[in-house]
Amino acid sequence: MLVEMIYASKVADPLRPGTVTDILHAARQFNARHGLTGLLVFDHQYFLQVIEGDRNQLKRLLPRLMADPRHTDFALIRFASIAQRQYAHWSMGFVAAHAVNRAVLLRHGVSDSFDPRSLTESAATALLRDLRESLAIEPLAKAA
Ligand SMILES: Cc1cc2nc3c(=O)[nH]c(=O)nc-3n(C[C@H](O)[C@H](O)[C@H](O)COP(=O)(O)O)c2cc1C
Repeated sequence: MLVEMIYASKVADPLRPGTVTDILHAARQFNARHGLTGLLVFDHQYFLQVIEGDRNQLKRLLPRLMADPRHTDFALIRFASIAQRQYAHWSMGFVAAHAVNRAVLLRHGVSDSFDPRSLTESAATALLRDLRESLAIEPLAKAA
C-alpha cells in the first residue's frame, strides 16, 4: 500500500556544517533503493519532510528517523494512504525555506519564523506541494 508520511522536527543543536548535505546524500541513496520519494524542507532551525512509498518501508524507516540525534522534537503530522505519488521525481528533493518565496510560506500560514510544527495536516500537505514547484530553481549546492 502506498502511503505518505509528513513530520516536522527541530534541528539538533549545534548543527555541524555539512550535516544537511550528509543527510540528503544518505537519504537519496537509501530511498532510491527502497522506492521512497519525497521532499525535505530546511531552514536554520527546523525540518519539514514528506516521504512517500510502500507502507512497510516507511514503517521500518520511521523509528530510525525518530531516533536520529541530528534532530529533536519529532512531530508526526500525517501518515496516510495515498492514491498516487506527488514527489515521484525526487528520491529526496530539497528546499531551503529561507530561500524560497516568502509569499508561498505566508499563503500557508507560516509567518516570518518558519516553524512547521504549527502547521495543520492539510496546511503542511498543501505547503509541501507548493514548495515542490520551486525544486527546479533550487540548486542542490545550497544544501550545505
Ligand atoms: C531530517 C532528516 C531527514 C532524513 N531523511 C531520511 C530519508 O528520507 N531516508 C533515509 O533513509 N534516511 C533519512 N534520514 C536518516 C535516518 O534518520 C537514519 O540516519 C538512517 O535511516 C540510518 O539509520 P540507522 O543509523 O539506524 O541505520 C534522515 C535524517 C534526518 C535528520
